[in-house]
Amino acid sequence: MTALEITGLNKVYDNGNVALHDVSLSVPKGSFFALLGPNGAGKSTLINILADTVRPSGGSTCLLGHDLFEERNWCKRQVGVVPQEVAFDPFFTPREVLAFTSGLFGCKPDYAWIDELLDRLELSAHVGKNTRQLSGGMRRRLLVAQALVHKPKLVILDEPTAGVDVELRRRLWDFMRELNAAGTTILLTTHYLDEAEELCDHVAIIDQGRVIKAQPMHELMQQVGSSYLWMNYGKQLTLSEEDKLALYAYKPRATDTGICLELGRSTDGQSTFHIAYQAAVERFGPPHDAGVRSEDLEDVFLRLTKKKSREIA
Ligand SMILES: Nc1ncnc2c1ncn2[C@@H]1O[C@H](COP(=O)(O)OP(=O)(O)OP(=O)(O)O)[C@@H](O)[C@H]1O
Ligand SMILES: [Mg+2]
Repeated sequence: MTALEITGLNKVYDNGNVALHDVSLSVPKGSFFALLGPNGAGKSTLINILADTVRPSGGSTCLLGHDLFEERNWCKRQVGVVPQEVAFDPFFTPREVLAFTSGLFGCKPDYAWIDELLDRLELSAHVGKNTRQLSGGMRRRLLVAQALVHKPKLVILDEPTAGVDVELRRRLWDFMRELNAAGTTILLTTHYLDEAEELCDHVAIIDQGRVIKAQPMHELMQQVGSSYLWMNYGKQLTLSEEDKLALYAYKPRATDTGICLELGRSTDGQSTFHIAYQAAVERFGPPHDAGVRSEDLEDVFLRLTKKKSREIA
């Protein structure tokens, strides 16, 4: 069963900006789902539609089998959304914010759970402060607590770790992992692609309002991720037409320090490596050193969203 079934979602803003173009996505129940895309791709627009703060121009969405737009009240109680923008009434304390939010979901404040949330999100030491006295990272963590206060079945996080320091980010993810293991479906956007790769079992990449990939994470990395052989000659090489022809299979590319060959996605990595290495040695002699690097999610993402791949020699 899917937690979320989005079909043909469109959004054209009043000024004519097309933010979403026929977006269809399935978020499996119990998954840890990464929604990735460059700035302006449409991630927040999609999330804000799910949070009912932006109205879609067309399309439909089902949450746990219920129509999101027709059964709004039921659906709202199943979802906790952490928006990208942080906004609180400045005169409430964190506990008051959480108690008040429980009321918005029609629940009596569960103070044991509220205190657990404050503890897990490392806010217990700051309960005496008003929200305006909290730092940016603390406010963002309070926003996460706010989204979890009614124990939703689906948690949607729009860049929850922006501005959160490394250690607290780790602890926040540990907490999300626990919730996920206990059955909560988690959909998140982030620009920390290493974290997305480590945490998420599903991924969708959107660019300019369109879904360009949506599949299990390991499948994407297997299908799209490639390996590269970097050979260091300590100087830039010039590739003759003959060199290019001889190394054609490896899409040779001169780098500042030598040459880079694409090994592809072969599962037989060792033998591909040796053949490619020998082919280069025959043309340029032995390198000072050489190494193989497999693409990570960031490389795959940059390639799919047509940005120049980063080079690591
Ligand atoms: N209120 C608005 N009115 C008009 N256009 C908007 C509005 N909000 C967003 N947009 C436009 O919609 C497109 C998608 O924006 P959105 O905020 O959804 O992107 P995003 O993927 O969340 O980007 P980021 O990674 O920067 O948060 C952009 O072109 C943006 O300029
Ligand atoms: Mg955004």
